[in-house]
Amino acid sequence: MSDHVVITRADNVLEIRLDRPEKKNALTRAMYDAMADAFEQADADPALRVALLTGTGDTFTSGNDITDFQSRGAVDGRSSASRFLPAISSMRKPLVAAVNGTAVGVGTTMLAHCDLIVAARSARFVMPFTSLGLVPEAASSLLFPRLLGNQRASALLLLGEPLDAETALQWGFVNRVVDDAALMDAARELARRLAALPPQAVRLTKRLLRSAERMAFPDFLDLCATVQGMCHNTEDHLEAVSAFLEKRPPVFQGR
Ligand code: COA
Repeated sequence: MSDHVVITRADNVLEIRLDRPEKKNALTRAMYDAMADAFEQADADPALRVALLTGTGDTFTSGNDITDFQSRGAVDGRSSASRFLPAISSMRKPLVAAVNGTAVGVGTTMLAHCDLIVAARSARFVMPFTSLGLVPEAASSLLFPRLLGNQRASALLLLGEPLDAETALQWGFVNRVVDDAALMDAARELARRLAALPPQAVRLTKRLLRSAERMAFPDFLDLCATVQGMCHNTEDHLEAVSAFLEKRPPVFQGR
């Protein structure tokens, strides 16, 4: 539970809002845990199909609460985020991010685990780990070179060079950049589109997209074939085929 993370439901979309604007949405342990709980809730509740993550104010999040670093002294590399990071990276349902402003440190790291990202024009992405005497967390040194290419990832992670929203769009890091005032409408529209699709096919496609990061190619091809076999046997697939042939809109039941 955290007073600084607001969870709301809108139909089958779970909205998770970081709400500590007076500290630029800096993340405390309670906030990490509240987000992890929300991801688990979204995955466990059959009525929910998509989660949407955003922040209040002019900052998406300023990253880990810096006062945490002061109090920790010698640590083993595990942080307050140690439950949050596995939770976001193993989420089965799609996660849309609406980046309402600056995303610092883990605020940018977590975006590598989101499926679709809409950025406000004022958004920027900063990973100041080296300047804090730290290294990038949570496999971002693996994910960002894949997402952006080595040189761009090096500028972000080694130099801590900020990335603005327009450049992030050109580099393929975000899906859309919109005016700040249009952010939530744009993100909710994407979330609703995802939620209207057959949920199993969406979940399994996400699994395939993410599994490629973790597997050798021959194993991955096998997994693709296995999952496609499962999909062919779902009622939603049969419904999609029938609807096409009968020239009517499909009605998906999530089976
Ligand atoms: N942890 C704890 N408190 C933070 C914080 C963080 N990560 N980021 C901001 N704050 C606090 C500030 O200390 C300040 O508190 P105060 O009003 O009690 O003095 C308040 O939030 C507002 O921050 P401020 O720096 O005045 O806002 P800004 O608009 O000028 O700048 C940022 C916003 C996000 C660019 C800037 O605060 C920043 O760089 N924060 C540190 C980010 C960071 O290094 N995070 C760790 C990454 S690993």
